[in-house]
Amino acid sequence: MSKKEGRIKLVFVTSNEHKIKEAMEILGKWNIQLEGSHVTKIEVQDDCIERISRYAAIQAYNEIKKPLIVEDSGLFIKALNGFPGPYSSYVQRKIGNDGIVKLMENISDRRAYFKASLTCICGQYVKTFNGIVHGSISEEPRGREGFGFDPIFIPEGYDRTMAELGERIKNTISHRYRAFTQLAEWVSRQKPLKP
Ligand code: IMP
Repeated sequence: MSKKEGRIKLVFVTSNEHKIKEAMEILGKWNIQLEGSHVTKIEVQDDCIERISRYAAIQAYNEIKKPLIVEDSGLFIKALNGFPGPYSSYVQRKIGNDGIVKLMENISDRRAYFKASLTCICGQYVKTFNGIVHGSISEEPRGREGFGFDPIFIPEGYDRTMAELGERIKNTISHRYRAFTQLAEWVSRQKPLKP
């Protein structure tokens, strides 16, 4: 962790602009500065997003040798045995929100959750933080904010989708908020470390 001018710098290895924007907003009040990276996030095929995130982080660290984070996330639908889970980004590209709503036709159990697995590598540490937000799948896509499955995900305790609630609320309840807050709490407990 490089602690220059009081701020801790971490490279965020991702090509997803939405994740960067959300992470920066979530970390706004913390003493952490995120940097983008040209390094490719290498995604192995695995049923477990923690392993995907850790593998990608180790690969990226071997390349850039700087303190970094990698996040892998997905939507897990109970009635579909956790599908699309680790395959969320592929499924989003191939069938999108309309495709998921169609798969869920006539299914009354609409419970689902988002999970984010965030790995931070810094010197001797390889730490993974998980964040989950529970909710349900809407009957049709609604709302314009956010990205990915936000228009079909209604967080528990709300009657609007993440895309209707908007990023200000999303960033205080989401799986990403929960994982990044744990990271920030852990980082703030560390003494300055060598990369
Ligand atoms: P990956 O972590 O890059 O493998 O991508 C995860 C995929 O899960 C994204 O492309 C989205 O389709 C979906 N996803 C992850 N987090 C969110 C979120 O906060 N909102 C909506 N969709 C998400």
